[in-house]
Amino acid sequence: MSHLPAAYPAARLRRTRQSAAVRGLVRENSLTVDDLIWPIFVRDGEGVEEPVTSMPGVVRRSVDKIVEAAREANDLGIPAICLFPYTDPSKKTEDCAEAWNPDNLSNTATRAIKDAVPEIAVMTDVALDPYNINGHDGFVKDGKILNDETVEALVKQALSQAEAGADIIGPSDMMDGRIGAIRSALEENGHSEVMILSYAAKYASAFYGPFRDAVGASGALKGDKSTYQMDPGNSDEALRLVGRDLDEGADMVMVKPGMPYLDICRRVKDHFGVPTYAYQVSGEYAMIMGAAQNGWIDGDKAMVESLLGFKRAGCDGILTYFAPAVARKLNGL
Ligand code: PBG
Repeated sequence: MSHLPAAYPAARLRRTRQSAAVRGLVRENSLTVDDLIWPIFVRDGEGVEEPVTSMPGVVRRSVDKIVEAAREANDLGIPAICLFPYTDPSKKTEDCAEAWNPDNLSNTATRAIKDAVPEIAVMTDVALDPYNINGHDGFVKDGKILNDETVEALVKQALSQAEAGADIIGPSDMMDGRIGAIRSALEENGHSEVMILSYAAKYASAFYGPFRDAVGASGALKGDKSTYQMDPGNSDEALRLVGRDLDEGADMVMVKPGMPYLDICRRVKDHFGVPTYAYQVSGEYAMIMGAAQNGWIDGDKAMVESLLGFKRAGCDGILTYFAPAVARKLNGL
């Protein structure tokens, strides 16, 4: 615990803030490129980079362009990228079969990256929403989200991603029991090295709006996700979820969204001491970029400060759309 060693003027806390040199010496936390996971959007076609309107600077890329992006990320020292597919509406169905198609966009992109840039870690998203005609992360029957049936589908999806070469599987669906089911299936099918980064404490948040545009799920979504994602008023429940997912075989855990939930990051890190990540989600990115584009804040400084906040809150890393921009800055480019 820190405490004030003496009374003023013996103690003048400004002494250690007097120059950049001294501030550097006493700085407790810092951001490095090793802390970054870059979420990127995949779409079909060739040579395509299509802007996402609500996320200035973010594009949906065809697989060839995804490979270029992975190469760029690797050159910048970014350790991992995370793939999210924009699925053509004609491939969205009630049974979500495209989710475990070995040749779907996510799997095709994973294979292409692992072929061209094997060093970079590829993380994939396990959830049915990009493939679901009603935009939900699970199967829907009579207006209810089915848990156990969904878990069976998620296992198939996760296995297809492992077969394609994913290094890290990221279940973002919030169904009960999915981590254990996916872990056993991975073990039984020769994928014991595949890691699971569980979206363990994922809140039902308004900050996902731009992402749902980016993956084409907003038009499709009927209702909200509050019967499976967490209530923003809860904190102890996050610890129960993280503990449960670790017991079921998660290697790393995530808190999502990021900036409004830094208290949860800190509690999780203090309580469990496991690799802990935060997702600075699309709406957080959009707020910073929107304000910066209007000249209301210094975008570069706000980017760095927002990401440093995650380190201070105890996170080991951050999923952020700023990854390449902040990596360039950290590399002095
Ligand atoms: C859904 C999923 C979401 C995000 C990642 N995976 C949105 C949702 O739960 O509706 C959000 C990411 C972001 O907003 O940047 N499986």
